Amino acid sequence: YPSDRIRNFSIIAHVDHGKSTLADRLLELTGTIKRGLGQPQYLDKLQVERERGITVKAQTATMFHRHNFGSGVTNTQDPPSFLLNLIDTPGHVDFSYEVSRSLAACQGALLVVDAAQGVQAQTVANFYLAFESNLTIIPIINKIDQPTADPDRVLAQLKSMFDLDPKDALLTSAKTGQGLEHVLPAVIERIPHPPGKSSAPLRMLLLDSYFDEYKGVICHVAVVDGALHKGDKISSAATSQTYEVFDVGFMNPEFKPTGVLMTGQVGYIVSGMRSTKEARVGDTLHHARSIVEPLPVHQATNHGTLFEDFSGTMYSLHLFARTPDFVHFLSSFEVASVMADSVGFRPAKHMVFSGLYPADGSDFEALNHAIERLTCNDASVSITKESSTALGLGFRCGFLGLLHMDVFHQRLEQEYGACIISTTPTVPYIFEYSDGSKVQVQNPATLSSNPGKRITKCWEPTVTATIIIPSEYVGAVITLCSERRGEQLEYSYIDSQRAFMKYRLPLREIVVDFYNELKSITSGYASFDYEDADYQVSDLVKLDILLNGQPVDAMATIVHNLKAQRVGRELVEKLKKFIDRQMFEITIQAAIGAKVLARET
Ligand code: GTP
Repeated sequence: YPSDRIRNFSIIAHVDHGKSTLADRLLELTGTIKRGLGQPQYLDKLQVERERGITVKAQTATMFHRHNFGSGVTNTQDPPSFLLNLIDTPGHVDFSYEVSRSLAACQGALLVVDAAQGVQAQTVANFYLAFESNLTIIPIINKIDQPTADPDRVLAQLKSMFDLDPKDALLTSAKTGQGLEHVLPAVIERIPHPPGKSSAPLRMLLLDSYFDEYKGVICHVAVVDGALHKGDKISSAATSQTYEVFDVGFMNPEFKPTGVLMTGQVGYIVSGMRSTKEARVGDTLHHARSIVEPLPVHQATNHGTLFEDFSGTMYSLHLFARTPDFVHFLSSFEVASVMADSVGFRPAKHMVFSGLYPADGSDFEALNHAIERLTCNDASVSITKESSTALGLGFRCGFLGLLHMDVFHQRLEQEYGACIISTTPTVPYIFEYSDGSKVQVQNPATLSSNPGKRITKCWEPTVTATIIIPSEYVGAVITLCSERRGEQLEYSYIDSQRAFMKYRLPLREIVVDFYNELKSITSGYASFDYEDADYQVSDLVKLDILLNGQPVDAMATIVHNLKAQRVGRELVEKLKKFIDRQMFEITIQAAIGAKVLARET
């Protein structure tokens, strides 16, 4: 296919607005998959994705569709066939880096909005990601079969918030099939073809990678310029490693070897990579011995999102945008990653940390093995060994966000049978000592209370949160955000019934229980999304929990000074209920250094 007959697009939506269902319908409509394969959502492949109904790893699928431009054209021949690459993006933006990389390979996006729920927080985030990536946006009002659907209201919201013309929107039901016949013609007619040059030296964008038991490391790539053939030798711009391409083709939706990928195509390659750690999302691959400019890193802001899964747990998401200030603060920790930006990919930035320990101390080796195998497929988790007097030998793990952490835990348990204890999640704080040195603290227990080295200043990461709620809940949400040390940045209405608010909040305040609380005070109607903001100076203290005078390292936390008293009291009261009765007295104390804030016996 010449590139003018190729279209690369993705589907973006707020959680549950019907993205995966729509993708399935398009695959069925083009005959790529058969109706009712028994697997309700074809593109979501991991078990955890099926169970939670979320997309974690981006998948791609290629389909073919015949189409004649313009109506009324009488054509005796078959209409020309187009090659359409649907690049699935994770809906939850723990994986926002994957989203922005996926979007970098697209020229257009279908923005799916639920006809009853209307614009939600992630719709806003996704719209701006696509808009900043200069994509052609096709608005799709989905679920019009629902009795509460109100497409006109949603069209008005899209117009007032994003200036999207109601005439450009398509009304669909991915459930009944209504309106779906207009989707692919709109993709072909409105979305530009990929702009690359077929005569230029090969440049491919690495979109995703995973480890397959039989084939080894499989990379999904978008060919930006030039062409790739089986047997070619390729190099990575990030690592300078060279590989031979053993197999190349596209996903239709299973592997379809073609021996070649041309300009504008999206497909898979199998080369001699030993681990997915060598395949860095966002990297540029080129022919060995040819010198090319690496593909640019998109400057799109990266968003984090909180959402609720079926079990009602709340998760947070992740952030990537890096402001100059932030680089300044982190320069000593992240020089390598900032340098890495210059070759077109950005390594994972870990925003949530927790300790992982085997539930039974003797299982350490088994857990170690399970973690090694799982990180083969998820190179974005950082792992270091740590030990705790309370819990024994274990690991300190860094995650992109709370959802990412939870998915990792669940996969460890489900796929590797590991039984684990994890400590309360914490965020990366920065502390400055009287001798001028700065440290990033990922484990509160390691924050030194050495009197010779006084803490002189501390910083904590913050986020800019977007909250959309029915107007009657505005008061309750304002109260919640101010309790969580939030600062209101914006407050407006998207229509007569819905308020839109922006807050700056400390990340720490939202990773623990914010979304649950937000949902409960708004009867489930709030939608929430956040993006990275700067670090801010903060008054932080280390709160120790002591049992019979001995600090329990696994329970140490870092809290804001003003909240220490309350958090300490709550913790000791909870512990009193949890610790079994003994024949002797046990004192439970919360303390900052030598100062005891709360005590129970
Ligand atoms: P994530 O993968 O979690 O981001 O969700 P999603 O946006 O892919 O949503 P999904 O396709 O999983 O759909 C969510 C729910 O809405 C499912 O129960 C679908 O069956 C249902 N659904 C999807 N499209 C329609 C529709 O047009 N009408 C109705 N009534 N329900 C729909």
